[in-house]
Parts: sequence; C-alpha cells; structure tokens
Amino acid sequence: MRRWPRDSVPPERRTGERYGARPSGTAPPGIGPSAAAARGAGKEPSGPIPGAQGDFRSSPGPIAGKSGIRYFFLGEHVEPVLVFGASRGIGLELARHLREQGVRVVAMVRAESSIEHLKEVGVEVVRGDALEPRDVAAAFDALGPGGHVVSTLGGSLHQGPVVDFEGNVHVIDEAARREVGRFVFVTSIGCGEMMPFMYDRIRAILGKIVEAKTRAEEHLVRTSLAWTIVRPGGLRSEPATGRGILSEDPEIHGFIHRADVALLVARILRDPATVGRKFAAIDSAFAKCVNPIEPFPLAE
Ligand SMILES: NC(=O)c1ccc[n+]([C@@H]2O[C@H](COP(=O)([O-])OP(=O)(O)OC[C@H]3O[C@@H](n4cnc5c(N)ncnc54)[C@H](OP(=O)(O)O)[C@@H]3O)[C@@H](O)[C@H]2O)c1
Repeated sequence: MRRWPRDSVPPERRTGERYGARPSGTAPPGIGPSAAAARGAGKEPSGPIPGAQGDFRSSPGPIAGKSGIRYFFLGEHVEPVLVFGASRGIGLELARHLREQGVRVVAMVRAESSIEHLKEVGVEVVRGDALEPRDVAAAFDALGPGGHVVSTLGGSLHQGPVVDFEGNVHVIDEAARREVGRFVFVTSIGCGEMMPFMYDRIRAILGKIVEAKTRAEEHLVRTSLAWTIVRPGGLRSEPATGRGILSEDPEIHGFIHRADVALLVARILRDPATVGRKFAAIDSAFAKCVNPIEPFPLAE
C-alpha cells in the first residue's frame, strides 16, 4: 500500500510558500506508481486497466463513460477509493468519474437512499449511517487494507449539522486507526480561515453548518492522516466544464459545478503536493476575489 507522508511534498509547494510551476520534464504523480510513466509515454486508455485491487474487471458492473471528459491511464496498481456521501452530488459524480478511470470504488450509503446510479457504474455499496461508528468501520472493512478515503458527507438545513461534525469525525477517526493512503475532505467555502470573509446573509443561513464543518476540519488536521481539505463554492448540478480551480486565498468566492469538484478531487488524489493543504474550489469563470487569483498548479 502506498502512503503519502505529508513531508513528501516538494519544498517549493509546502504550505505558506509561493508555488512555482512544476519543473519542466517532471511528470505529475498518479494514484499508481506507473501512472507518470504511462502519461509520459502519451498513453491513453483504450480498454480495461489491469491491476491488483484497481482491476475493474474484478468489480461488478460496466464502466460508464457519461461525462465525456478525457481521462488518463492511471497505471497498473490503482488504489481503491472509499467514498462517504456518494448517493448524490459531488460524491456520486466522483464515484462515476473514478469508475470511468477503472478505479475500484466502495461507497457507504444509508439504507433508505437510492444506490441505482452507483450500481450502474459498478460501485461496491455498503449500507450504513455515518452517525454509527460500527457502520463506518464496516465500510473500511469492505475497502480492505490501503486505499484512499473521500468524504463529502453533509447534512441539510432541515437535518442540522450533526453529520457535518459527528459523522465526519467518525470517518476521520476510523481512517486514522487504519492504514489508508490519502484522505480528502470536502467541506464548504467559508470554513476555517475563510469564515471572516463570508457574506453576512450567507452566514445567517449556513453559519451553523460551516462551524460544524470547521470543527471537523480541525479534528482532521490534528491527525497524522495525509489529508487535503476542499471547500467548494456555491454548488450547481450541471455537467463538468473543466474550469474548476483550487485556491488557497481565504477571500475567494464564487460557484462551481458538482462534477467539476469531483474532477478536482480525483486530481488531488493523484497529486501528493496537495497533502496538508486547504483549498477553495471554484469555477474560474465565476471566481471573484479582492486579490489576484493564483490557482494552485494541480497535477493533471
Ligand atoms: N449546497 C451547496 O451549495 C454547498 C456549497 C459548498 C459545500 N457544500 C457541501 O459539499 C458537500 C457535498 O454537497 P452535495 O450538494 O454535492 O451533496 P449533498 O446533497 O449535500 O449530499 C450529502 C451526502 O451525505 C450523505 N449523508 C448525509 N447524512 C448521512 C449519514 N448520516 N450517513 C451517511 N451518509 C449521509 C447523503 O446521503 P443521503 O442520500 O442518505 O442523504 C449524501 O450522499 C456537502 O458536505 C455540502 O454540505 C454544499
């Protein structure tokens, strides 16, 4: 199992320092060890990707190619990904996208939620509630040793912010007990150091949810997991545009399509330079900021 230690990040891309462009001639890292070599050779997928845990021929269901987005050959040893929050929204888009790439995906979904779309693309579903630590542990059991974890768990205004903190803490704590690779936590614009820059009218509506997600972020940061925090702007359910950018500027705001957040998360999983960083995720066409916008140079 490949682990991404936080100190593996190149010095020029560590938090608090200016990001230079990726040095020419260096290929971006992938989920699997041979990904960069495959990309360097200009290969693209034309059929099933052979591999150990990532061999989708051993996973149920066909691979759907609905997004039409070009994707990269990920190599022979693709790490599986466990997704919390995959019944809809960003989590579902991510599960679809990863399956298109031949990645084995496991999703924990509540008993009452539809799994039709997940089954269509061959996602392995474990029924469970994030508020139940035993259910969360069972989802990690289904993933098996190794693999990456993504949480997009979020409650509705009606439900309140319980899952935003408690559910996510259960996932974080279980991941910290296991040998996992990367942990990508999708929260919200306005969390953490972005909070002072929230519009008052948004704070009045989403303040409690953003506070709960912020406390969960703080919990994650205290672990030794190889974490990355992604804070999307206002979400829209439209097809991917490929215009999504990551920014570490706490004053940035704007909108983004859920499918574009999913594409960014998949790229984050391939880029160890994103470990230990907190990003806003915004559509570059809708991004607004008082400062010049400097997108993080995310590997393809
Ligand atoms: N709406 C926005 O504009 C906005 C902006 C920025 C960030 N966000 C945040 O971004 C994330 C993704 O948002 P989204 O709109 O794409 O998805 P979403 O519709 O908020 O989906 C949340 C997911 O969490 C799951 N969930 C909730 N409680 C659960 C529990 N107790 N156990 C297991 N699963 C549970 C839901 O499953 P069920 O189907 O079972 O309910 C669903 O799959 C959320 O955290 C959201 O708060 C939203």
